Amino acid sequence: METSIPLAVSPDNAAVWHDSRLCLLDQRMLPERGAFLPLDTAAAAARAIADMVVRGAPAIGIAAAYAVVLAARDAYVRSGAGWRAAIDRDLALLAASRPTAVNLFWAIERMKRLMDGLSEQDPVPALLDEALAIHAEDRAANRTMGELGAAMIQGPTDVITHCNAGALATGGYGTALGVIRSAFAAGRIRRVYADETRPWMQGTRLTAWELAQSGIPVTVQTDGAAASLMAAGGIGWVIVGSDRIAANGDVANKIGTYALAVLARYHGVGLMVAAPTSTIDMLVASGADIPIEERDPDEVLTCGGRRLGPEGVGARNPVFDITPAALVDCIVTERGVVESPTLEKMRALMD
Ligand code: MRU
Repeated sequence: METSIPLAVSPDNAAVWHDSRLCLLDQRMLPERGAFLPLDTAAAAARAIADMVVRGAPAIGIAAAYAVVLAARDAYVRSGAGWRAAIDRDLALLAASRPTAVNLFWAIERMKRLMDGLSEQDPVPALLDEALAIHAEDRAANRTMGELGAAMIQGPTDVITHCNAGALATGGYGTALGVIRSAFAAGRIRRVYADETRPWMQGTRLTAWELAQSGIPVTVQTDGAAASLMAAGGIGWVIVGSDRIAANGDVANKIGTYALAVLARYHGVGLMVAAPTSTIDMLVASGADIPIEERDPDEVLTCGGRRLGPEGVGARNPVFDITPAALVDCIVTERGVVESPTLEKMRALMD
């Protein structure tokens, strides 16, 4: 694994503040190549989020928090005491990078609230402390969710996971993969089936890499293979993360999660969604109000740089979908587990 920056190529190093820069482990190249992208500006960070150098809702939020530090430093150098007004353009660039993962907006708002209380002095030290705190809190939350989610699993059993909701997608340890790590350590999980997760292959490239490194038995499957696997029996849970959870408990996650949820209910398999409360958006009433990102159709029409589809034929590429709360058996957060989520239960959790 190559890297010109003295940082370990590890799933726990998705976003690192190093040498007064934001260093991102380039997830487009994993697992065959490990390289860090050193970033000095918020604009470069916004591009890296849009291009999915860093991806996964919590990791996007953490990267955005560090990017606000870069923006503040630049604004202070350019405008001195007038830095607060000078930073808004960079904040808007960051907010426009991807629309679905609410952690992006949660992190920017948290940094903004701190900024509003700061004087005209150099804002960088205080903002860096806040970004580091957001990072550390996310890691701690994932450990707590791991324990709470593992306790829900009557094992040993096999499970299915979709996309990558691991250390790479967070500040470390992972949400869904955090539950899987804790449950495996407790002897409650035998094997993980990781959906390849077209078109970006987060399952094949990232989840399989993480679990193999953790010594957890993992088998990659096509997204369409989950149905027959569930029909064959032996699958206790589908365990996934989320990009945004609405006030009524509807869950936005990687495209294909809704299909898995319908299959799980039909086959009597539990559906567990693991997500920190920073992913819960109580300002959004239901899944219908969550913006779904549509990405370049070429991500579907090509694979590994080779065009698959005939010239002139287009493709749809919505990258997230909505699973209605009625199909969710439990939402595992660092504040507790919500079984059969409803608006009242989500309010009770968040209040
Ligand atoms: O497009 P991506 O790779 O950013 O999508 C990521 C997911 O859908 C994850 O499941 C979700 O962000 C949770 S990550 C802990």
